[in-house]
Amino acid sequence: MINSLNVIDIIRQKRDGGTLDDEQINWAIDAYTRGVVGDEQFAALSMAIFFRGMDRREIATWTQAMIESGERMDFSGLSRRTVDKHSTGGVGDKITLPLAPLVASFGVAVPQLSGRGLGHTGGTLDKLEAIPGWKPDLSTRDILSILDDVGAVVCAPGAGLVPADRKLYALRDITGTVDSIPLIASSIMSKKIAEGTSALVLDVKVGSGAFMKNQDQARELASTMVDLGEDSGVRTIALLTAMDVPLGLTVGNALEIRETLEILEGGGPHDVVELTLTLAREMLALAGRPHEDVDAALKNGKAMDHWRRMIEAQGGDPDAALPVAKHSEDVTADTDGILTTMDALTVGVASWRLGAGRARKEDQVQAAAGIEIHAKPGQRVRKGQKILTLHTDTPELIPQARQALSTGLIVDGAAAEGTGATGSVVLERISR
Ligand code: URA
Repeated sequence: MINSLNVIDIIRQKRDGGTLDDEQINWAIDAYTRGVVGDEQFAALSMAIFFRGMDRREIATWTQAMIESGERMDFSGLSRRTVDKHSTGGVGDKITLPLAPLVASFGVAVPQLSGRGLGHTGGTLDKLEAIPGWKPDLSTRDILSILDDVGAVVCAPGAGLVPADRKLYALRDITGTVDSIPLIASSIMSKKIAEGTSALVLDVKVGSGAFMKNQDQARELASTMVDLGEDSGVRTIALLTAMDVPLGLTVGNALEIRETLEILEGGGPHDVVELTLTLAREMLALAGRPHEDVDAALKNGKAMDHWRRMIEAQGGDPDAALPVAKHSEDVTADTDGILTTMDALTVGVASWRLGAGRARKEDQVQAAAGIEIHAKPGQRVRKGQKILTLHTDTPELIPQARQALSTGLIVDGAAAEGTGATGSVVLERISR
């Protein structure tokens, strides 16, 4: 039996660039989950991993040890195939909302165990809670029954699912160790494998608003996760998608629900529709349905019908009015020219400061706070033209949001037409 003294050896070994064996990893995760090893020692180990990395064998063992820290779900009794989607998180990323009912409308089960926003990225549960009556907490029995009946469920993971990640993610969040490829890959994939989906499509974001700032890092993260999934019997593919500019024209909880409804009515911004359709095709292909007409299902009301049933199954009223902020202010162009930059990170931070996100886990979010986008990079704007509208219930927060935006929006009077315009949001596909 390794005693607590060996934790220091494990930390030193990783700090000095060594590799950890399976016994060390299994013991460390188990001891941390049970509270035998303290936060300060695991913080040091996480920082050593952040700087030294882990090889593929270490990451696989670490992921398996995290899975074994808790329960596993079992969807094998369902009458439908299960396919999940996971995004590594971005600004204006509301894709789960139209995607889950769209894929479910083809008879596939989509279990979306989702999280809340922390920092500048929004959380799917916070967005859905903007709908009056909607509740995220479901028993395993409810999850299975909604999946069998409606096909799509978006809910909070139960406390028993990967408790090691629950503890470790909170620790990483306050110790500057979130953006480490081995730690992100093991955190995401332990939850997805424990959840019991039979197939998984990963949306790995790249750019200023994402954890991975460049495509090489994102590719490494994606291929690590694809290997972890495939080696555990989960059919897994990943798309690398752009996150330099916010997705769509809304950032913030109720605002993103409004945009979701536009998409389910057959409209909506081009980038959100493109990504929703691409991910839906990938998910359906993994479920053995590669030739379905997903475009038609958005236009003919089939996906909307499943959205309504999905919201009602969790207590929500799909016809209720969405909350509207008490205070709104426009951000306008200060000169004529081309809008060359709209930095996703700064828009995310501004929306968070308006009250749409939380700084600590226990904070409340404002359902109506956020940002509406009226122009995207590459577009010509005139002096005084609206670029953004800021929404909040707390007008004192507006100056902080404006300050966050001060470096993130650039209108260039000398730029050529189209400068800064973004192309396809899908950059690359990774599979094994
Ligand atoms: N999402 C997760 O679940 N874990 C991470 O480490 C990062 C994003």
